[in-house]
Amino acid sequence: MKYKKANVNIAILKYWGKADTTINLPYQTSVSITADNFYTLTNVELDPNAKKDVVILDDKALTGIQYTRVAHHLDALRKHFGRGEYCIVTSYNHVFIKAGYASSASAFAALAAAYVDAIGAKVSKKELSRLARLGSGSATRSVHGGFVIWHRGKNHKTSFAEKLPIDWPEFRMLFTIIDPGIKTVSSRVGMQITVEKSKSYSIYVKESNDLVEPLIEALNAKDIEAVGHISERSAELMRNVMLEAGLEYHTPKTQKLIQTIRSIRSKHKIPVFYTFDAGPNLILFTLEQYVNDIIRLLPDVEIQVSGVGGGITNANS
Ligand code: DP6
Repeated sequence: MKYKKANVNIAILKYWGKADTTINLPYQTSVSITADNFYTLTNVELDPNAKKDVVILDDKALTGIQYTRVAHHLDALRKHFGRGEYCIVTSYNHVFIKAGYASSASAFAALAAAYVDAIGAKVSKKELSRLARLGSGSATRSVHGGFVIWHRGKNHKTSFAEKLPIDWPEFRMLFTIIDPGIKTVSSRVGMQITVEKSKSYSIYVKESNDLVEPLIEALNAKDIEAVGHISERSAELMRNVMLEAGLEYHTPKTQKLIQTIRSIRSKHKIPVFYTFDAGPNLILFTLEQYVNDIIRLLPDVEIQVSGVGGGITNANS
């Protein structure tokens, strides 16, 4: 079977809140790195006789909220292209599921690409990033490889992702598993609660958007210290508005690891920085030459290392 393969991405500068929930229009411009070893494979076939979509994930038929999210994305894609046929979607996730890492970025990027392929349309990568956004905000960025910026924009046309011209193959992401299996409020729900309840949300939006330029400068200079500090600032700004809205995604183990990372940095002079998403796990940013030392200094932490990955590709199985 022919599949579209999309990798997951991790934001250095976070997206956390929607100005328009129907098209996943964000309040913030965000910047991410596409990972090279966690991905989703998806095939879409049109079924002109079907009365609804069928979605098979990892050989099991999807139901409930997960099914509804896929069906809604397909509805948006059908509407966009003026088509009516329902689909059979076959998908395989190769993500770090055990750690509770979300796969919506790779899943909806692969779904958009596979749908476009199924109807035989030709679209640019920029347009594909808009179509992926209709399924999930972070999927907008997974269309591209490398270092990616998602311009928040003001409407469907102006909110898209593009690859930044940065070649930094030594960059590494260390995915930690701190508390596997912990159930949390989904990003989708959590960001809505935050927009509604956080007192300083509008200040957060401004502070976050003010980090875009310094981050791009730091990436252009391949300055891991500057990139790392901005990444931590972005994550902590997001956490602050989450907490204001009553959302705690960290556990004591998360906070303890943050302290350990800071002390590895100061005691051992190793450039290692953290970020997190809507969950208890940290993702660490560093360079290839420091990976073994960091793993040695964190003997009790389960870690998976990832390099910088490519954008959407074709795959067979
Ligand atoms: C904390 O993209 O999962 O990971 O747009 O509702 O699908 P939806 O949300 P999602 O949110 C990701 C939020 C984040 C930060 C980020 O990836 O920028």
